Amino acid sequence: MSEPPPDVEVVADAAALAEAAARRAVADLEVAVEAHGSATWVLTGGSTPLAAYRRLAASDLRAGVEWDRVRVAIGDERCVPVGHPDSNWGQAAAALLDHVPLPQHQRLRIRGELPADRAADDYQEVLGGLPERTAGVPRLEVVWLGVGEDGHCLSLFPGRPEVEVTDRLVVAVHHAPKPPPDRVSLTLAAVAGVERLLVLAAGAAKAAAVAGARGADPGLPVARAAAAVRAAGGTVTWLLDRAAADAAGRSR
Ligand code: 6PG
Repeated sequence: MSEPPPDVEVVADAAALAEAAARRAVADLEVAVEAHGSATWVLTGGSTPLAAYRRLAASDLRAGVEWDRVRVAIGDERCVPVGHPDSNWGQAAAALLDHVPLPQHQRLRIRGELPADRAADDYQEVLGGLPERTAGVPRLEVVWLGVGEDGHCLSLFPGRPEVEVTDRLVVAVHHAPKPPPDRVSLTLAAVAGVERLLVLAAGAAKAAAVAGARGADPGLPVARAAAAVRAAGGTVTWLLDRAAADAAGRSR
C-alpha cells in the first residue's frame, strides 16, 4: 500500500487504532488546553471508539489529561435512557468517563431519555453556553466522528433533511435508518466550530464509505463534515485501520 496522504494515519488493526486514538486524545487535549485554558472534547457514539475510551481510562494515559480543564460532550445520542445498552453516553461512561476525575458539571450529556425534540432544544442551549468560535458557533476543540457504512456520521444520514440544517446546532432525528429511530444530533453548522477533527474507521465494511468520502462522493455526510471543518480553518485527520484504508489509500 502506498504512503497515505498527510491527513490519513493508517494503523494495523482495531487494537492499534484504539492505542493511536487514545494517545491522540491526550496530545490534542493538551494542545487545546494550552491554547485556550480549557477544551471541549466531543465524543463519538457507536462501537468503534469504545476500545480507545477504555485505553484512555488506563492510568498511564488518563494522567496525561487535565480533566478539570476539559468539558466532555457527545456528537449524537439515541433516544434511550442513559442506562440503556444503546446509550452512546452510557457506553462512553462505562468505558471511560466513570474512570476519570472529570467534574460533574463538565459532563455535557444529551438527555436521551427526553423526547427527541425536547432533548435537541436542551442540547442546543448547552452548546450555546460554550465559548464561541464565531458568532453563534461554539468552539469545539477536539471532536471525534465515527463513520457508518453508508457514509453517515453523527446521526446525519445520506439524503436526509437533517444534513441540510444550517440554522441550528442540534437537531432531532426521527425514523433514522439505523436503530433506534429517534435520535439527537449535532448539525454541520455546529461542526463548523471544530478545531481538530478525528475521523475513526475500522474494518473492511467501512472502506467504501471512507474512499467515497475522500474521493468520488463529497456529498456523503462525513465528507461534508470534514469539508466544513477545513473550510473553517480546522484540521481533519482520518485514523484508519488497514482494512478500512485499503480502498481509501488509492484516492486523493
Ligand atoms: C451512532 C453513532 C454513529 C456511529 C456510526 C459508526 O449513534 O450510531 O454516533 O454515527 O458513529 O454509525 O458506528 P460503529 O462505530 O458502531 O460502526
